[in-house]
Amino acid sequence: MSFEGRDILSTEDLSKEDVLKIMNVAAQMENIVHTQHMSDLLADKMVAVIFMEPSTRTRLSFETAIQRLGAKLISVADPKTSSSQKGESLADMAKTVEGYVDCIVIRQPMTGGAKLVADAVDIPVINGGDGSGQHPTQALLDLYTIQKEKGTLEGLTVAMVGDLKYGRTVHSLSYALASFSPQYLYCAPDELQIPEKIIGDMQAEGISCQKTSDIKEALQADILYMTRIQKERFEEPAEYERLKKSYVLTRQLVEQGKDGIFIMHPLPRVDEITTDVDDLPNAAYFRQAHNGVFLRMALLAMVLGRA
Ligand code: NCD
Repeated sequence: MSFEGRDILSTEDLSKEDVLKIMNVAAQMENIVHTQHMSDLLADKMVAVIFMEPSTRTRLSFETAIQRLGAKLISVADPKTSSSQKGESLADMAKTVEGYVDCIVIRQPMTGGAKLVADAVDIPVINGGDGSGQHPTQALLDLYTIQKEKGTLEGLTVAMVGDLKYGRTVHSLSYALASFSPQYLYCAPDELQIPEKIIGDMQAEGISCQKTSDIKEALQADILYMTRIQKERFEEPAEYERLKKSYVLTRQLVEQGKDGIFIMHPLPRVDEITTDVDDLPNAAYFRQAHNGVFLRMALLAMVLGRA
């Protein structure tokens, strides 16, 4: 099935076949980068990269991906410089930008905001993170990293740790891996547990889901997916202060866990992984961030009908 013209808004919309196709194209893109460095696959295309929330990896890897494929880009990196400050609606902004480019990549703070943009325009829209909703490109690069380093996506036990309530990466990851017979362990303080809707959706797929607040249980999984407590989403700063140090993964803790446990994190990290974990061979988080370029090249090429 062709991806041309498709929006990438949520991993809920992706079939197993879709995910496998994206993994294949990302591997082709990685090969292009390693052999030719640059390509002219999208030389006649323009992409808008509109980021209305802070970002380092997602924005810069999209911009790298766009340039490595020879496309041109226009961008908003600071919402204070866009007309949203004057009260312009997302839909009006999207309709305007649609007249300039062939594809829109957007991050903004409202859950469902990327869909609102996609509904307003006819060109493909890629969600770079919508509030505490979804972050599909992150989950797909997570899968690409797992596939590349563990050799399979099938039958893995995945522990997701930290802020599972507000963290959009774990929402997207749960759905993205759901067709590959996983088992999920959701490890969070009660206040920050995974939304019930996600548990219900996973159980409807026959996936075993367990909840815990004890990181020692999470350390028995194949994959330990650590996340940051999402400070910017809390209504009460005191609540954040109380929960911010809920989990700190140290090298000593890793050594008590399952042999070879694969450690991932979407980054940025604050305090939840100590730096003495970084040079363990199974600490994958910086390699994970690097894979974002290949994965985002793949999605751009696919939705623009060139892969
Ligand atoms: C994540 C995000 O923006 O949701 N960052 C990223 O894109 N790699 C995770 C986070 O901010 O905690």
